[in-house]
Amino acid sequence: MCLFAVLVLANGDLTKTKPNRPQPADVVVWPESTNAVSKVATICYDNNVPMIPFGTGTGLESGVSAPRGGVCLNLTKMDQVLDLHPEDFDVSVQPGVTRNALNSYLRDTGLWFPVDPGADASLCGMAATSASGTNAVRYGTMRENVMNMEVVLPDGTIINTAGKDRRTKKTAAGYNLTNIYVGSEGTLGIITKTTLRLYGIPETIMAAVCSFPSVQAAVDTTVMTMQSGIPIARIEFLDDVMMDACNKFGGLDYPVAPTLFLEFHGSEKNVADQAEAVAEIAQMNEGSDFQMASDPAQRKKLWSARHNAWYAGLALKPGSKGCATDVCVPISRLPEVIVETKEDISKSSLIGPIVGHVGDGNFHSLLIIDPDDPAQIEEAHVLHERMARRALAVGGTCTGEHGIGLGKRHLLREEMGEGTFNVMKALKHALDPKNIMNPEKVIPV
Ligand SMILES: *[C@@H]1O[C@H](CO)[C@@H](O)[C@H](O)[C@H]1NC(C)=O
Ligand SMILES: *[C@@H]1O[C@H](CO)[C@@H](O)[C@H](O)[C@H]1NC(C)=O
Repeated sequence: MCLFAVLVLANGDLTKTKPNRPQPADVVVWPESTNAVSKVATICYDNNVPMIPFGTGTGLESGVSAPRGGVCLNLTKMDQVLDLHPEDFDVSVQPGVTRNALNSYLRDTGLWFPVDPGADASLCGMAATSASGTNAVRYGTMRENVMNMEVVLPDGTIINTAGKDRRTKKTAAGYNLTNIYVGSEGTLGIITKTTLRLYGIPETIMAAVCSFPSVQAAVDTTVMTMQSGIPIARIEFLDDVMMDACNKFGGLDYPVAPTLFLEFHGSEKNVADQAEAVAEIAQMNEGSDFQMASDPAQRKKLWSARHNAWYAGLALKPGSKGCATDVCVPISRLPEVIVETKEDISKSSLIGPIVGHVGDGNFHSLLIIDPDDPAQIEEAHVLHERMARRALAVGGTCTGEHGIGLGKRHLLREEMGEGTFNVMKALKHALDPKNIMNPEKVIPV
C-alpha cells in the first residue's frame, strides 16, 4: 500500500488524511559519523524518544514515516565508500552511499554490485529492507550479499554483527546476527556501515525480449529455464495490460501480450549458448522469436519498456497513484497465482498491470487508484489482502522484497504463525527494550 504513501511524501502533501499517510518526525538530525549516531541514540534512549533512520526514502512500505514522532536520523551525509578489497571481492559502505554511487566508484576495478531494486537506493537501507529486484535471480538478494554490518543499538552501543573487520566468505561462529539485521527495517538498530560482496563485471551482456500467447506459456518458459539450470541474469515478466501501458507511454509497438524481458551475462560464447537454450524453451511454449541486443545503447532501448513500466502504468490514468503489491511464491505455483490474480483484478473496477521477477517467483501488480476516492483505496486494499492470502495459501510470502512496514503487520503474523511471531517479538523486545527504534513498524508492541 505504500508507494502511494511515498509519492504523497515526495509531493510534500502531509495534510490529507489517507491510509498510511506518512507522518513527519519532530526533528531531523544529520549525523556525520558513527559516533555521532551513537550520541544521538544515547540521548534518545535516555529520554524515551523514537528514532527513525533515513537513507534515501525510496522504500515502499512507510519505513521512514514517524507515527509516534521523534528524531529522524538523516544518514545522507555519511556517504563514504570504505575498505575496498578488489582481490577479495568486498567493500564497505556508509548509509549515504547509493547503489549507483557505489557502481560509479567501482567503475575502474572491473567489479560491480549487482542487486538492483530499481530506485537508486541507499545500500544500507537496502540491507535494512532485504531489497532485491531484477538481478536477484542470478546474484541473490541483499540477504546473500551482506557479509557484515556496523549497527548502533538503541542505547548507543556500537556493534559489528559478524565481529569487527570480519569479512570471510563463510563462518560457523555463533548466531548469524547479520541475518537478523537484514530485513529488520530499522526496528532493531541503526545500520551505519555494511560490508558487501562484489562481482566481476560480465564480459558480455545480451538482452532479449519474447512475447507469448498466454501467461501460462510465459511463466512455464521461466520455470523450465530455471529448472534446466541456465544461469540467467534477469527474467522479467510483463502482462498484456502492462505491455499496452508501455507501448502507449514509450511510443513502442510491442505485441500486447504476456512478455518476458531477459538478460544473459557471461563470456560471448556462454551468453550465446544461454540465449539459444532459452529461445528453444520459449519456442516449445509458442513464444515469439527473440528480439536481441548486446550493444549497450540497443540493450537499453530493448529494455526501456521494462525500465519505465512503473511510470507507464501510472500514465494509464493521469493524476492517479500506484499501490504496489509484492507477493512471492514457490515458482511451480507461480502460473496459477498470476492467472488467478489477473482474474481477480479484472473483476474489480481498478486497472492493475503486473510485472514480475518471475525467476524468483516474485511479482507486483500496480493497482492504479485515484487518491481522492476512498472507494478505490478500499478496493485496492481488499485486492491486496486477497493477493497476499492467495500467496500464503500456496506456501508463499506476503512480501518478496518491499518489506512489512506498517501495512502488512497483520499478514506477517498470519504468515509466521503465533509461535514464530512471538519469537520475533521477543527479539524486538530484547534488542529494543524501550520500543524506540522505528516504532510501530514490522512488529507492533
Ligand atoms: C535528508 O537529507 C537530504 C539532503 O542531505 C534531503 O534531500 C532529504 O530530504 C532529507 N530527508 C529528510 C527526511 O529529512
Ligand atoms: C549470515 O547472514 C548474512 C546475511 O543474510 C549472509 O550473507 C551470510 O552468508 C550468513 N552467514 C552464514 C555463515 O550463514
